[in-house]
Amino acid sequence: MTMGKFITLEGVEGVGKTTNLNFIASYLTSNGKKIITTREPGGTKIAEKIRDLLLEHNEEKLCNESELLLMFAARAQHIENIIKPALDAGKWVVCDRFTDATYAYQGGGRHFKMADINWFEKFVQKGLSPDKTVLLDLSVDVGLERAAGRSEPDRFESEKKAFFNNVRRVYLERAKAEPNRFCIVDASKSIEQVQKNIQRYLDKMLTDG
Ligand code: TMP
Repeated sequence: MTMGKFITLEGVEGVGKTTNLNFIASYLTSNGKKIITTREPGGTKIAEKIRDLLLEHNEEKLCNESELLLMFAARAQHIENIIKPALDAGKWVVCDRFTDATYAYQGGGRHFKMADINWFEKFVQKGLSPDKTVLLDLSVDVGLERAAGRSEPDRFESEKKAFFNNVRRVYLERAKAEPNRFCIVDASKSIEQVQKNIQRYLDKMLTDG
């Protein structure tokens, strides 16, 4: 059976991931692809419980090492129980965030060594990586303004601007280093323009097979 494709969506808070994830899902479906949409951290019952631990404000401070380990623990559950079975069944998996977020947030934001993250990536993913990653890029100021007031800020959303500037910098560095996998989409443009740009990349994937 043909393997499905694995598409991930990345960006700092407020870039419009949810709207564009829905767009990607419906565009692929209308082109005859069987798809699942999912998210990280999360995507399975256990991984969603881990997500709560990661995003909630706790009385006990969650240390950065635990944060990194929990991200990969959730990812291991997600890959084993959702992502791999779907790809093996020929489905296209559209995922809101994946390991690029770990490099950006835990590497850029929390200053973990990229080599350490890379070790966990290999340990947990065993060679699995996205076929295409859409990076919605937006200035941190605009992103945070858009995200403000959506709901009570979670543990990450409560971080300072410098944290998010580091997150964005690492995303852009990774996108430059892997131009074939990443497509950078300017999220400051109108929704129509953003989706037209995303569609161009999807059309190429659909044609290339
Ligand atoms: P969301 O708000 O996009 O659902 O993502 C939840 C938060 O988790 C977001 O602030 C980014 C953060 N995150 C990491 O720090 N590292 C990761 O590996 C992932 C997947 C998410």
